Amino acid sequence: MEILTGINIVKTYSSEFDDNSYNVLNGLDIAIHEGEFAAIMGSSGSGKTTLLNIFSGIDKPTTGEVEIMGVNVTNLNDNKRAIFRREKLGMIFQDFNLLEDLTLKENAVLPLLMQGKKQISIDKEVDDLFKLMNIYDIKDKYPRNVSQGQKQRAASCRALATNPRIIFADEPTGNLDSKAAKKFMNYMKLINSERKVTLLLATHDSLTASYCSRVIFIKDGNIFADIYKKEEDKRFNNKILDCLVIMGGDD
Ligand SMILES: Nc1ncnc2c1ncn2[C@@H]1O[C@H](COP(=O)(O)OP(=O)(O)OP(=O)(O)O)[C@@H](O)[C@H]1O
Ligand SMILES: [Mg+2]
Repeated sequence: MEILTGINIVKTYSSEFDDNSYNVLNGLDIAIHEGEFAAIMGSSGSGKTTLLNIFSGIDKPTTGEVEIMGVNVTNLNDNKRAIFRREKLGMIFQDFNLLEDLTLKENAVLPLLMQGKKQISIDKEVDDLFKLMNIYDIKDKYPRNVSQGQKQRAASCRALATNPRIIFADEPTGNLDSKAAKKFMNYMKLINSERKVTLLLATHDSLTASYCSRVIFIKDGNIFADIYKKEEDKRFNNKILDCLVIMGGDD
């Protein structure tokens, strides 16, 4: 079952230097299946962020359509799209986007308060998430007093709090050292397997991508390769590296 489909997605930007325009995404077709744990890879400027922003409704394609959970998000007006995003989708960012004046737990609680949920049910739900992500002991600390990895796990709790069926993450390990990145990706795996949340992340780090069960490579505005991990595939990281070499680029 598909949870997300993109059909013939084109994103055109006008050049800063002349009157020309160019296509960052060039008629890309994609289908993400329910429960998948997928990565998008591609060199810097290949359009990973553009694509994720189009999926999550932050941005609109120039032409083409995106359907998520049966809803054509491209056709929604700005207001409805914002509501859909808030209610149905989860987002994780490279720089965490935590509010510095709130504790980790308060950060995670915020989206639920905005949805008008009752404090008591919120408390239990968010505590369970913090336990799952192994940051329950530090839930009352402020972002400045915890590690980068702990911040990203708190940001993941915030993304999970509204119980989304799909989470988009743009370079979620971009600000983590390799040890914290590995730990974080193991938690993402846990979320995927235990909570059955579909995860789609953009990364240019092959180690991060190797935790996923599918890697989609984009180049020249289209899908260049699309590979799936077989169970216990120890060579998946090598396959990713092979694809990156064949694809070329600067990463
Ligand atoms: N608002 C904009 N106006 C004009 N061009 C843009 C805009 N946003 C992005 N671009 C261009 O679109 C292309 C794709 O950018 P995008 O940020 O999606 O790439 P990316 O794959 O996420 O790169 P990175 O790995 O560096 O994060 C780049 O050439 C970028 O300069
Ligand atoms: Mg990007």
